[in-house]
Amino acid sequence: MVYPIVAIGDAVLRKKCKVIEPNYPHIDTLINDMFATMYEASGVGLAAPQIGLDIRLFVVDTAPFADDEDLSEDEQKILFNLKKVFINPEVIEESGEYWDFNEGCLSIPNIREDVSRRARVTIKYQDINFQEYIETYDGLAARVIQHEYDHIEGILFTDKLSSLKKRLLRKRIQLISSGKVKTDYKMRFPQ
Ligand code: NI
Repeated sequence: MVYPIVAIGDAVLRKKCKVIEPNYPHIDTLINDMFATMYEASGVGLAAPQIGLDIRLFVVDTAPFADDEDLSEDEQKILFNLKKVFINPEVIEESGEYWDFNEGCLSIPNIREDVSRRARVTIKYQDINFQEYIETYDGLAARVIQHEYDHIEGILFTDKLSSLKKRLLRKRIQLISSGKVKTDYKMRFPQ
């Protein structure tokens, strides 16, 4: 099933999400539905609060980023193969230089802005069998994971912009929250 994507302005996007217990009902169905919802909206990542659930879960599939010819073959390969679910993730460390990347978000359609983040992230998470892993990601892979991780902490990429940029975007964001926005995927609006 494809869920409508929750738009900015909804309180669920501002929650610090809860840990998922291994007996959480039908988590495999939920994960399949999250991938389906993400693909329907042509996203590379989707976090549970974006479908209205305040739980620590996000999915990524960075394959659409892989055919960027400016990337090394190694990085292309990593991006092509990074289809993954992160359950109960916890960022252990961020390191490396800050760099800008033009980010967007399915919950904030038609707005893209440069966001500065560190180049590398080390993250602890569980897979669908609640087996634990610790992994380190760089570059675009790290970027997508950092963006999705922020979602389960109640943070949106627009929070990271300068106060001037925020002020310039305020009206457009209000329009999105009130449903005055066109998307080719289904959304759910708070107002
Ligand atoms: Ni997002």
